[in-house]
Amino acid sequence: MIIAVDGTAASGKGTLAKRLADHFHLAHLDTGGLYRAVALRVLRLPFPADEALTHAASEASQLTHDDLNHADLRLETTSAMASRVASIPAVRQALLAYQQDFAANPPNHASGAVLDGRDIGTIILPNADIKFYCDAEIEIRAQRRHKELISRGETATYADILAGIAARDNRDMNRPVAPLKPAEDAIRINTGKYAIDQMVEQAMTYIVSPE
Ligand code: CDP
Repeated sequence: MIIAVDGTAASGKGTLAKRLADHFHLAHLDTGGLYRAVALRVLRLPFPADEALTHAASEASQLTHDDLNHADLRLETTSAMASRVASIPAVRQALLAYQQDFAANPPNHASGAVLDGRDIGTIILPNADIKFYCDAEIEIRAQRRHKELISRGETATYADILAGIAARDNRDMNRPVAPLKPAEDAIRINTGKYAIDQMVEQAMTYIVSPE
C-alpha cells in the first residue's frame, strides 16, 4: 500500500503520515526533511546565499544519513531556505529517484510506504493507492507551529511564524516546477477542524486495510 500525503506548511501532514504509517506498519518518509537537509548544507557553505544556492543541486546529490538526522532540520531559518532550494528544478530532480525508490522498496521489508510532502500525489507517486491533501486556515497553522517551536525552546514570535508560513506557501504554490496543489484524485482534509486523533480517524475511514 502506497499513501501520499501532501499539504500546506504546518498543516499536520507529517503527523497524519506518521500515524498512518504506524497504524498500518508502513515505512514513512518525511520528504520535507530532504529539502531541509539540502538547505542546511547550503546554509553552511562559505558563500553569500545567492552564490551558495547555485551549489544546491550538487549538495542534494551528496546527502548522507547524518544530514537527514541533523538537530537543526526544523529551525525556522532552515524552513525558509528549504523552500528556496525546493524551487530549483535540479534539486528536485536530484531527490526524485530516492523518493520513488523508498516507495518501491520500503526499508525493513515493510509492505508499503507513506510519503508526505508537496508533490507526492502529483509528481513523485502519481499512482499512489490513496492520496490526502491537508490544509487549514493559515492562522491555525501558525498558532500550532508557534506552539511547537516554543515547546522546543526556540524564541520565535507568532508574527514571524505567520509571515514565514505565508512566504513559503506562496513560493511553494507558485514555483513553475512541481508546485504545491492537490492531485485531482486527492481526498482533502481540513485539519483545522480536528484534533489529531479525529484527523487520523477521518483519514482512516478512506483506507481499506489489506490485513
Ligand atoms: O513541516 P512543514 O510543512 O513546515 O515543512 P516541510 O514539509 O518540512 O517542507 C519544507 C519545505 O520543503 C517546504 O516549504 C517546501 O518548499 C519543500 N518541500 C517540497 O518542495 N516538496 C516536498 N515534497 C516536500 C517539501
